[in-house]
Amino acid sequence: MHPLFRILTALVFLGISSCTTSDIKEMNEQEVTVIEPVEVDPIDNQSYSNCEDVRSTHLTLDLNVNFEAKKLTGYVKHDIENSTGVTTMIFDVNQLAIDKVVLDESDPTEFVIGEYDPIKGSPMHVKIKPETKSVTIYYSTQPESKALQWLDPQQTAGKKFPYLFTQGEAVLTRTWIPCQDSPQNRITYDATLQVPSNLLALMAADNNPTKKNSQGKYTYSMDIPIPSYLIALAVGDLEFQSTGERTGVYASPVLLEAAAYEFAEVEEMISVTESLYGEYLWGRYDILVLPTSFPYGGMENPKLTFATPTIITGDRSLVSLIAHELAHSWSGNLVTNATWDDFWLNEGFTVYIENRIMEAIHGKEHADMLFSIEYEELEIENEEILAGEFPEDSKLKLKLEGRDPDDGMTTIAYIKGALFLKTLEELVGRDKFDPFVKSYFADHQFQTLTTEAFIIYLNDNLLTANDLTFNTDEWIYGEGIPVNCVKITSNRFDRVEEKDKMIPGMKSTSDLGLNQSTWSTQEWMHFIRQIPKETTLPEFDMMEQDFGFSQSGNAEIQAEWFIRSIKQGRIDPIKKDLEEFLIRVGRRKFLEPIYEELAKSPSGLTIAVEVYVKARPNYHSISYQTIDEILDWEIKKV
Ligand code: BES
Ligand code: ZN
Repeated sequence: MHPLFRILTALVFLGISSCTTSDIKEMNEQEVTVIEPVEVDPIDNQSYSNCEDVRSTHLTLDLNVNFEAKKLTGYVKHDIENSTGVTTMIFDVNQLAIDKVVLDESDPTEFVIGEYDPIKGSPMHVKIKPETKSVTIYYSTQPESKALQWLDPQQTAGKKFPYLFTQGEAVLTRTWIPCQDSPQNRITYDATLQVPSNLLALMAADNNPTKKNSQGKYTYSMDIPIPSYLIALAVGDLEFQSTGERTGVYASPVLLEAAAYEFAEVEEMISVTESLYGEYLWGRYDILVLPTSFPYGGMENPKLTFATPTIITGDRSLVSLIAHELAHSWSGNLVTNATWDDFWLNEGFTVYIENRIMEAIHGKEHADMLFSIEYEELEIENEEILAGEFPEDSKLKLKLEGRDPDDGMTTIAYIKGALFLKTLEELVGRDKFDPFVKSYFADHQFQTLTTEAFIIYLNDNLLTANDLTFNTDEWIYGEGIPVNCVKITSNRFDRVEEKDKMIPGMKSTSDLGLNQSTWSTQEWMHFIRQIPKETTLPEFDMMEQDFGFSQSGNAEIQAEWFIRSIKQGRIDPIKKDLEEFLIRVGRRKFLEPIYEELAKSPSGLTIAVEVYVKARPNYHSISYQTIDEILDWEIKKV
C-alpha cells in the first residue's frame, strides 16, 4: 500500500466568527476551500479483510467444476505476508461451505464465520501464527453463488453443452473464492481445474488452451499482480480463432467466425493505446464471447475480456465496447481504484480512453457521435439521480458505505468522469494532457489510488505546473454537471434530427429520404430516441414495417425501439418480439430501462410480470436482482 490522503475542507469567512447555514449560502463568494493532504489509509467499507495487517500475496486454486451439482469444490491456498505479526487473518466469504482450514499445508486451525450481510457476505476469522506462511481453505460453492452462472445447453448459442462463467466485480469473487476481496490487495495466482472432458476451461490468466484436452484438466498462471475482482473463469463448448499477433477470440463454434470478423480491429486498438499511454503490459489480449445472459456488455478480465454476444452485429458498429475493456488494461487493471467509492477512477478514465481510441481509428466525427450517445444517457440519469433518494450519487466521489457497490455503477462514474478529463484536456491541450495521463499510469502502475491521491497528483503534475486553476472540487465533490463541462455535439446527429422532425405528418417513410444502408447503429439509436412525441401510432407502424426495428438483429436498436414504443403506449404490436428479446438477452443495461418503462402503466406491468416469469431463469443474479426490485418480485411471486 502507498501513502494516501484525506481532504480537509475548511470554510474561511473573513471577519465573521460564527454563522448559520443561510449566512454561508449568502457569502458564497468569500468561501475559500483549503485542501490539505493528510496521509490516511483508505477505508474499504465493502471488505472485512485485514489486508493492511496480514495480506494474501499469491493464491493456488484447485477446483473441480461439477455441472450436475452446480458446484465448485476444492481448495484455495493463500501465501501470506504478515507484516504486523497478528494472529487472526480475516477473509471475505459469501455463502460458501467451508470444510476445513489448514496452516502451512499440514496444521489444521480454527476459524469462525461472522454475521451474514446480504451484500458483503461474512467475515471469516482464521487463527494463524505470526510465522504462518500459508493458509489453505477447503470449500465448495453453493448453486446460487452470485458470481457464477450455470447455464443449461438450451441457454447457450450452440444448444448442446452447458456453460459456466464467473463475474467478480465488484464484491462477488468472495462468492466463489474465500479471499481478501478488496481492490487494495493485489495477488498473483495459479490454478488447476478439472472440468467435464467435452468442455474447454479458460481463466483470465496465462496458459489458456486453444483446444480441449481429453482429461478435462487445465492449469493456469497469472504472474502479474491483480486485485481479486479480476479473477475470472469460464467453461463451455468453446473454440479459438486468432485475430492478430497478440489477439484472438474464444466463442461457441457457431459464433466464432462472426466474432473474429467483428473484433478484427483489436490489434490496432492496442497499438493506438500504447502510443498514447505506454506499453500494454499484459502479454495477450483475447476476447471471450459469453452467452446472451451475460449481465454486462463487457468485463475487463485481464488478458481475457469477457464480452456480450449482443455486440456482434456484423458491421463492427459496437466495437467501442472492446476499446473500453481494452482501455481498462491501463485504467483499472494497472492503476486501480482504492475503494468502490473511487470507482470513477476506473470507469471515467476508461470511457475517456475508449473515445480516444475510437477517434484515432475512425476519426473525430465518429468519436463525437459515440460520445453524444453517452452524453444523452448522462443527462437523463443525472436528472433522475438529483431528483431521487440519493442526489449525492451524482458526485464523482461516492459514499457507498452500507450500500451495494453496484449502486455506484451509473453514468456519473462513467460519463461525468470522462467529461471531467475531457474538460481538463480542453483546458490544457493534448500536448500537455496526453503526457500527463501517460505518466499517471507509469507512476502508479500496479498500485491502487484514492480520488484524493489523484487530486494531489493532478495539482502537482498538471495544474500547478502550468499555473492553472480548475474547479476540481466542484467536479469531484459537487452534485450534477459543472457549467464549464465541455460541450458534446455531433454533426451526424444534427442531420438525424432533421429527419426526426419530418416524421409527424409523413405519408410514408420514403418522405424522410433516408438511405438506410448508410446509417450506423448510433444514428439509428439517436433517430429512435428523438422520435417526436406527436408521432401517431400509424406512423410508428410505418417505421416498424419499413425499418424492421423490433426484429433487427441489433440489440441496441431493438432496445431503443422497445423503450420508445412503450413510452408511446404502443405495447401490443411489439409484444411478441419484446418477449423473445427479454427471454433471450440478459444484459442488464437493456433489461432495466425496458422493465422500468413497462412498470409505469398497469397494463405494461402485467405484461412485464408475465414475461418475467419466463425470462427470469435465464438471467444472471446481477440482472435479476435489479429487475426483482423494479417489479417488486418477492411480493408478486407469492
Ligand atoms: N468493469 C465494467 C463492468 C462492471 C462494473 C462490472 C462494475 C461490475 C461492477 C466494464 O468495464 C464496463 O464498464 N462495462 C460496460 C461497457 C461499456 C461502458 C462500454 C457494460 O457492461 O455496459
Ligand atoms: Zn468499464
